[in-house]
Amino acid sequence: MVEFWPFTLALFLFLPVAYLLLKHLTVSSTYPKQIPEGTMGWPVVGETLSFLKPHESYTMGSFLQDRCSRYGKVFKSHLFGSPAIVSCDHELNTYILQNERKLFPPSYPKVMHDILGEYGMILITGDIHKKLRNVIVNIVRDTKSESHYLRCVEKLSLSTLKSWVDCKEVAFYEEAKQVALHVMLQYLLHIDLEEPVALKLLTDFETYIKGFVSLPLKLPGTAYTKAMKARVRVISSLKEILQERRSKGFDRLAEGGDYLHIILVNENLNEEEMVSLVFDMLFGGYETTAKLLSLVVYFLSKAPNAFQKLKEEHETIRRSKKDGEPLSWEDYQNMKFTNNVIYEASRCGNIVKFLHRKALKDIKYKDFVIPSGWLVVPVLSAPHLDSTIHENPQEFNPWRWEDETTMKKVAPFGGGPHLCPGFDLAKVEISFFLHHFILNYRWKTKVDEYPLAYPYVEFTRGLQLEIEPVMDM
Ligand code: HEM
Repeated sequence: MVEFWPFTLALFLFLPVAYLLLKHLTVSSTYPKQIPEGTMGWPVVGETLSFLKPHESYTMGSFLQDRCSRYGKVFKSHLFGSPAIVSCDHELNTYILQNERKLFPPSYPKVMHDILGEYGMILITGDIHKKLRNVIVNIVRDTKSESHYLRCVEKLSLSTLKSWVDCKEVAFYEEAKQVALHVMLQYLLHIDLEEPVALKLLTDFETYIKGFVSLPLKLPGTAYTKAMKARVRVISSLKEILQERRSKGFDRLAEGGDYLHIILVNENLNEEEMVSLVFDMLFGGYETTAKLLSLVVYFLSKAPNAFQKLKEEHETIRRSKKDGEPLSWEDYQNMKFTNNVIYEASRCGNIVKFLHRKALKDIKYKDFVIPSGWLVVPVLSAPHLDSTIHENPQEFNPWRWEDETTMKKVAPFGGGPHLCPGFDLAKVEISFFLHHFILNYRWKTKVDEYPLAYPYVEFTRGLQLEIEPVMDM
């Protein structure tokens, strides 16, 4: 009997491993001929770890570089627990994103559904997606040029810059996150930054985002588990905020722009959908904006010509205004080179490296087949860094955007029905911050600082900047 247990235990351990190995091998050997070439890696984990290996975000990374040179821009692999087709091809990426409804719906690993929530915008499809998305699209359309929003962004930018007057160094990414979150809290939720709930939301969001980009391990103490708990706390704070606002009466618009009012009076939305919308705007809007602003500042520190040209644009705008006069929507529309700088930073910096989709059926594309049920991974960064598409792709060159066709060769904000609805808000915020930053400071990055694809962008040292004021603020 005693000898029986080691045998049973060995069998117990061996059988699942043998099953997975066999399954992995049979899947590999039954691929039809037209499936793109590639390798599947280890059972279960496949090639996920090599795919996620961090690298400078303005490069493809060794995994993609190696696979593209061996198999071409479209290859097969095994990622996130599923056989996968990886596309580094701009034309195929566009096809995948444009045909999302019929052929390639979003598909995140099941374990991630808990962290994204039932109505998480990037997960949902069909009518419910259209309904929720429309609310955000309309809010962004009405807000981006609205004077209270512009004023709010400018005031927060100025107060941050003033707080740096005696500093020689700042942790820029951290500061940018504070500005972006405060804009959202003040403008979206009408929460004063001194209110305790503002700090609570900030802390919980930080925990949430750390877990969102971590390995989805539902074990005690992991970043992922902490994030799931943080999400519950954020949702409960948001519910309280909505309740409080309701008790004050809907008919009274808060002074200035008022997303909450728009959401609360929408009779098509239930409570869960309302909270989820606010959550998505906070989640979608704050880290990404801070990351893009940080990338702009990083790339400008390496490109003196672009820095100089940008400075001249903002000096011209400032000269056309009275002392201390706030920036207007017309000023923003005149920030043409700034616009190019922001787009170029999003091309070079690659905040979102890839997306998750799934093939609903066998799909023939050109001379190969994408098999039904496989994960489909459009790598957004790959065409940005493709020398057959862009001249010197690793060079930060905002002038390339003077050619209008450049826009058609990139997709930093995704595409198709899930195209980012918030980018216009981020652009205004970044442009206004840059206006005051470039007129008042010079900056330098540390030599060992660079943006890292982790897979979402991080900075190796939090973008530690040496700053020097250039005039009295
Ligand atoms: C500034 C840099 C930004 C980048 C690089 C960025 C990138 C993206 C990308 C790639 C997607 C597509 C996701 C997918 O297809 O699965 C997306 C969706 C989304 N973004 Fe952004 N975003 C940015 C700013 C913002 C801002 C400021 C907001 C909020 C106001 C926002 C809100 C959203 C939302 C709600 C979605 C989901 C849309 C949908 O699924 O229909 N984003 N973003």
